[in-house]
Parts: sequence; C-alpha cells; structure tokens
Amino acid sequence: MGNCFLASLVLFSFLDPLLSAPAPAPAAPRPATSSQQSSPPRAPAPTVAPAPPTTFLGTRPPVFLLPGSGASTLDSTWTNSTLKAACSPTAATSTIWLQDINTLTGDPTCIQAALLLTFNSTTSLWQNNSNAQITPHDYGGVTGVVGIPVDNVFLHPIWSAMVQQLQSQGYTIGSNLFGAPYDWRVSFYTLQQIGYFARLKNSIEAAVKANNNTRAVICGHSLGTLVSTYFLTSATTAAWREEYVAAYFSYSGLYAGASVAFTQFIEGNSYGFAVSPSRLWAAARTWGSLVQRSPVPHVWGNQVLISSRAKKYTASDMRQLLYDLNLTQQVSTYDRIYSSVANLTMNPLNVDTYCIMGNSIQTAVNLAYDVPTFNGSVPLSGANVTYGGGDGVINQISLDECLSLDPVAVYNFTGIDHGGVLGDPMVMKIFLKALSTYTNPPSPSATSNMHG
Ligand SMILES: *[C@@H]1O[C@H](CO)[C@@H](O)[C@H](O)[C@H]1NC(C)=O
Ligand SMILES: *[C@@H]1O[C@H](CO)[C@@H](O)[C@H](O)[C@H]1NC(C)=O
Ligand SMILES: *[C@@H]1O[C@H](CO)[C@@H](O)[C@H](O)[C@H]1NC(C)=O
Ligand SMILES: *[C@@H]1O[C@H](CO)[C@@H](O)[C@H](O)[C@H]1NC(C)=O
Ligand SMILES: *[C@@H]1O[C@H](CO)[C@@H](O)[C@H](O)[C@H]1NC(C)=O
Ligand SMILES: *[C@@H]1O[C@H](CO)[C@@H](O)[C@H](O)[C@H]1NC(C)=O
Ligand SMILES: *[C@@H]1O[C@H](CO)[C@@H](O)[C@H](O)[C@H]1NC(C)=O
Ligand SMILES: *[C@@H]1O[C@H](CO)[C@@H](O)[C@H](O)[C@H]1NC(C)=O
Ligand SMILES: *[C@@H]1O[C@H](CO)[C@@H](O)[C@H](O)[C@H]1NC(C)=O
Repeated sequence: MGNCFLASLVLFSFLDPLLSAPAPAPAAPRPATSSQQSSPPRAPAPTVAPAPPTTFLGTRPPVFLLPGSGASTLDSTWTNSTLKAACSPTAATSTIWLQDINTLTGDPTCIQAALLLTFNSTTSLWQNNSNAQITPHDYGGVTGVVGIPVDNVFLHPIWSAMVQQLQSQGYTIGSNLFGAPYDWRVSFYTLQQIGYFARLKNSIEAAVKANNNTRAVICGHSLGTLVSTYFLTSATTAAWREEYVAAYFSYSGLYAGASVAFTQFIEGNSYGFAVSPSRLWAAARTWGSLVQRSPVPHVWGNQVLISSRAKKYTASDMRQLLYDLNLTQQVSTYDRIYSSVANLTMNPLNVDTYCIMGNSIQTAVNLAYDVPTFNGSVPLSGANVTYGGGDGVINQISLDECLSLDPVAVYNFTGIDHGGVLGDPMVMKIFLKALSTYTNPPSPSATSNMHG
C-alpha cells in the first residue's frame, strides 16, 4: 500500500505499554487503498530519522526477520528451456520476485510461469511446477526481505526502515541480524516438508552460539506471524525454545484470518503495483499459503464476509467458497491445514511475546460481488466493500487474537496501518528498548518493566 509511510506521521502524546493502551486522539479513519493483501508497494527508500542510540549492555540478541505474503524475494531456476530463453537468457537462476520494478508492468508471463504451483495428489501439498524451481533469495542476509534496491529504490520498504535502524544501533547483517525469507506461496506444512523450519532452527542455533549464547529474537510480520507461530509451537520443542529464543515480536498478526483472505483467489492481486490484479490471478489460485488466512469460525461467528448475488459466505462457509471458486485442490489444502490454523494460538510459545498492531484504519469486512454465483472461470473485480476496524488489511478481530498468545506487552497504535507498523519511529523506539533487555548478560533495568 502506498500510504505505509504516511501512516508513520501520526503522532502520539502518550503510550501505555500495557494491555489495551488507551487510544490517543483518534486519527480519522482512512479507507484502505485496496481490498488486497498489502505487499511490496513501489516506494522510495524511507527516510526515517535514526532513533536515539539505545544502550545495549552486553551481547546483543541476534534478530531474525520473517516477512509476510509477497515480501520475500524469490529466485527462479528455469527448467524449461523455452521459458529460460525468454525469461532469463543469461543465467540459469534469476530473481523473479521482484528483480525489476518494471517486471509487473510488463508481460507477466514469466512471473506466472515461475510462480504457479503444481498440486501433488500423493502428499496433498503444492510443489514447484515443471518450468521453474523457486528458492528464497539471500537467506540470512537482508535483500531477501528488503528486496534488491534498484536505483536506491527499495522494492519492499516494509522492512527497510527497521533494518537501517538496527544497523544504526550497532547490528551487523549476517552476524546478529538475519533475514529469514521463505517461499510465501506455500503453507507452513509445505515449508516444513521443504526444510524451511529445519534451516531456521539451525541458523538460530548457530547465531546464538556465535553471539555469546545470547538467545535470539524473532520478528514476524503479517503472514510471517503465522509462520513464526507455527515454528514456535509445532516445529520446535519447548526445551529448544527456552534454550534458543528469548522473544517473539508479532507485527500485524492475523491469528484469526481476514475477510480479504480469498480475494486473491477471486480477483488476483496487483501487490500495490499499478497493474490489474487479474494479471497474477492464475498463479495466485495455486498458492496454498492463502488458505491459511481463512477466517476462523469460532472468532468470527456468522458474520457474512463474502457474497455473490446467490450466496452469502460466513467464516464457516470458506470451504464451500473454495469449491464454488472451482478450487478443489485448495479444498484439500484447507482440509489438511485448517484445524492447525484454528489451533495456532492455543499452545504456549514459551517465549516473551509482544503483540504490535495498528487500529482505526478502514478495513474490508464484507465484499459483495455482483455475479449470479461464483464459478472461478474469470477473475472478478469491483466488489462492494463494507469497512470496519483494523489495520487496512487485517480486521481488528484477528489482530486482537494475538492476545491468545499470552503476550508480555501489547502495543495498539491508532492510525498506523498494516505495512507502516514496522517502520514507524515510535514503534521502533519501543522495539529497541525491549530488544535491549535481552542482551547477555540481561539488562538490569528493563526486565522488570517488560514482564508484566
Ligand atoms: C486496539 O484498539 C482498537 C480501537 O480502539 C480496539 O478495537 C481493539 O480491541 C484494541 N486491541 C487491543 C489488543 O488492545
Ligand atoms: C558473555 O556471557 C557471559 C555470561 O552471561 C557474560 O558474563 C559476559 O559478560 C558476556 N560477554 C560479553 C562480551 O558480553
Ligand atoms: C515450456 O514452456 C512453454 C511455454 O509456456 C510451454 O509451451 C511448454 O509446454 C513447456 N515445456 C515443458 C516441457 O513443459
Ligand atoms: C509427490 O510427492 C512425493 C513425496 O515427496 C514424491 O515422491 C513424488 O515424486 C511427487 N509427485 C510428483 C508428480 O512430483
Ligand atoms: C522448489 O525447488 C527448490 C530448488 O530445488 C527447492 O529447494 C524447493 O524446496 C522447491 N519448493 C517447492 C514448494 O516445491
Ligand atoms: C485442533 O484442536 C481441536 C480441539 O482441541 C482438536 O480436536 C484437533 O485435533 C486439533 N487439530 C490439530 C491439527 O492439532
Ligand atoms: C453495490 O451497492 C450499490 C448501492 O447499494 C448497489 O446499487 C449495487 O448493486 C451494489 N453492487 C454489488 C456488486 O452488490
Ligand atoms: C462464470 O461467471 C462469469 C462471471 O459472472 C460469467 O461471465 C460466466 O458466464 C460464468 N461461466 C459459467 C460457465 O457459468
Ligand atoms: C473448473 O476447473 C476444471 C479443472 O481445472 C476446468 O476443467 C473447468 O473448466 C473449470 N470450470 C469453470 C466453470 O471454469
């Protein structure tokens, strides 16, 4: 969304770090710029004034960054010679998402061909198609999360302010600051199968050992909060977490799904670019990760979220919606992962958890499409959108579900939107202060404040 950084101009006179901080003077709700899942907008590198130096008494905790949907840079190794000749004539492997700011405004054939997944009916999981093999770019560095700058323009500005601030506070990329990009097309089951969590576990262990046994801090944003939470509940043991992870910072978490969960299946997604969302529709219909954002019935009740002229769909009807969209393989993905998503916040993380979110930005609650019924044969557009509270992408009811993780602190910012929360100077200050308590040896001052 283009207004990520405008959001950071909202000022606060007072912030209560405890649960349900009273909202400062309410900001005028702004309509979200689109009903789509926020993602890398085309925006100049943000110029955020460096925060005053934070005192780190002892070894700094290593920090791992887990981005959201569309926000990990992806490389493609072409296995189809026709497509390789057309899409990457000079190298076997090239960055497909997003290497060139113009790629999406040009012919999207290469992106579609690379990012379409194939359903494996033996495992009921999605895998690379036969044209291209996709890998996250620069795992452990940061260009996998901030993007590869083109003429000093960051493609993924969501993380760049945080990376710059951490560097200005003495953090070093690859020593104690790590990007953990992943293939955001697939669900956490597939991430498990293709070894992402094993890799994350190994790199956290190595970083902790290389940093005087200082336990790591995980920062997840948006879809990255689901991936982080799965890692911290299902891909590691409590004993491992107690040894290696001090804290988890959840930014713009969608623990109970979102009304816009399936809009990419219905409309496609322009990811903030000035192109028709329908250009990535066919590929998006294969992304199992989107099923993880399905609204959770026990939280949403029978509120109508999506409708055609003939049918209204509540959170409990999302499986039927996938059928009606002719996405029978996604129905099987839903059956496989749904109860894990719904259960994600039911298990203890055993790490200090911080819930950080925006509020009071107009967020789509209901999308009504003017079609007789859904049939999934063409991308739709022009839904009548009814708005409610949230961060512009994620509904408040889902952001608030972070409370189920039994957080040590909740920061709820009026007027800060989905993407803007990471780079906001006020949020950054709070993050750095909390981070400085996890040094080895621990900071004597702040620990008492942060555990309440
Ligand atoms: C955040 O603030 C919004 C708006 O006041 C409120 O609806 C929501 O419940 C709050 N969430 C938390 C976790 O405090
Ligand atoms: C490394 O950790 C030990 C044990 O907590 C601590 O006493 C020491 O000060 C740390 N070293 C540095 C350089 O921070
Ligand atoms: C390679 O891609 C071209 C263009 O999409 C397609 O026509 C062809 O069938 C593909 N070849 C294989 C072996 O999949
Ligand atoms: C489906 O997955 C299984 C298990 O990973 C693998 O052995 C098989 O080759 C895959 N099928 C296809 C068609 O790629
Ligand atoms: C895609 O291919 C890459 C390279 O072989 C592999 O590492 C990755 O696990 C595959 N991903 C999926 C979702 O099949
Ligand atoms: C989710 O929780 C329900 C109710 O506790 C349980 O029946 C179900 O097996 C759980 N699913 C998973 C995948 O853990
Ligand atoms: C959208 O709302 C307007 C005004 O209520 C109505 O005339 C129109 O038919 C609606 N369109 C859809 C797609 O529901
Ligand atoms: C599917 O829906 C579209 C959009 O409403 C419509 O134009 C098309 O005729 C429908 N196709 C079938 C086979 O029903
Ligand atoms: C539904 O999907 C199947 C298989 O992908 C396809 O053959 C069929 O034409 C689709 N139906 C519609 C209405 O698009």
